[in-house]
Amino acid sequence: GKVAVLFGGSSAEREISLMSGGGVLSALRGRGVDAHGFDPADRPLDELKRAGYDRAFIALHGRHGEDGCVQGALELLGIPYTGSGVMASAIAMDKVMTKRIFLAEGLSTPAHVHLRAGDHGPARLAEVLAQLGLPLIVKPPREGSSIGVSKVSRAEDLPAAVALAAKYDPDVLCEAFIDGEEVTCPVLGAGDSAHALPVIRIVPPEAGYDYKNKYFTDEVRYLCPSGLPAAEEREIQRLALGAYRALGCRGWGRADLMVRRSDRKVFLLEMNTSPGMTGHSLVPMSAREAGMSYEALCSHLLAQAAL
Ligand code: DAL
Ligand code: MG
Repeated sequence: GKVAVLFGGSSAEREISLMSGGGVLSALRGRGVDAHGFDPADRPLDELKRAGYDRAFIALHGRHGEDGCVQGALELLGIPYTGSGVMASAIAMDKVMTKRIFLAEGLSTPAHVHLRAGDHGPARLAEVLAQLGLPLIVKPPREGSSIGVSKVSRAEDLPAAVALAAKYDPDVLCEAFIDGEEVTCPVLGAGDSAHALPVIRIVPPEAGYDYKNKYFTDEVRYLCPSGLPAAEEREIQRLALGAYRALGCRGWGRADLMVRRSDRKVFLLEMNTSPGMTGHSLVPMSAREAGMSYEALCSHLLAQAAL
């Protein structure tokens, strides 16, 4: 049957989704799948039904694509789709809700303070500094690709960082900074068959692993195999799989984590339920290390599309 590759959309990560979807579309076509691009920013989703699509590959990132909304619409239309269902997508899109699950499940994650909409006054920011110390990280909880994220090293820079994050989300997440190495670990499958792929170690330039360096420069070095001691790699994979299961993910996901320099303790930052599939993206890199090409990965994900 006909497969719709959903890409574009109207989130702040639209530009990235266009790159992910373009890659997925040509990979599926290369495998002989009757696949067509479909941008929900251009056309209402219920046209999928009228146009005779019988499966959807979700290559949308961010709000209204990765957060359970599109997944819910596809449920109602009865069109099987790749990746996690409504609940796991909705929780994983929100880094504050995700942390609540991690904490409830005993999965290690950096200390945080949740600033609710409008509760960003000087007294509250003083509490953030007292609780988390410096440096700290400020994020909009429901964005991806580092959009709106700042590292704050001086107390006087906190208000501007919170104001920047609040441009993207009325709620703001402040998180203790973990000084160490940034790693990521994809997970494939569902239920008992879920398994972690090889870990990737990210070595960013001085400027950091930000939006520009994630996608538009070649300044980041990616190590896969990670070169980490086997016990550390296993601990990262254990936490990634634990996060995936705790959130109820299926199909695929990618956990982002930090390894603290001082004691090599591993911390979960978040789970991405519709990870990037661009030429710079990490799930394809890890899958390749595990012997699965980009094309094979796309076919594999599509074969697991479900309602
Ligand atoms: N949010 C981007 C697409 C990622 O996690 O890969
Ligand atoms: Mg993310």
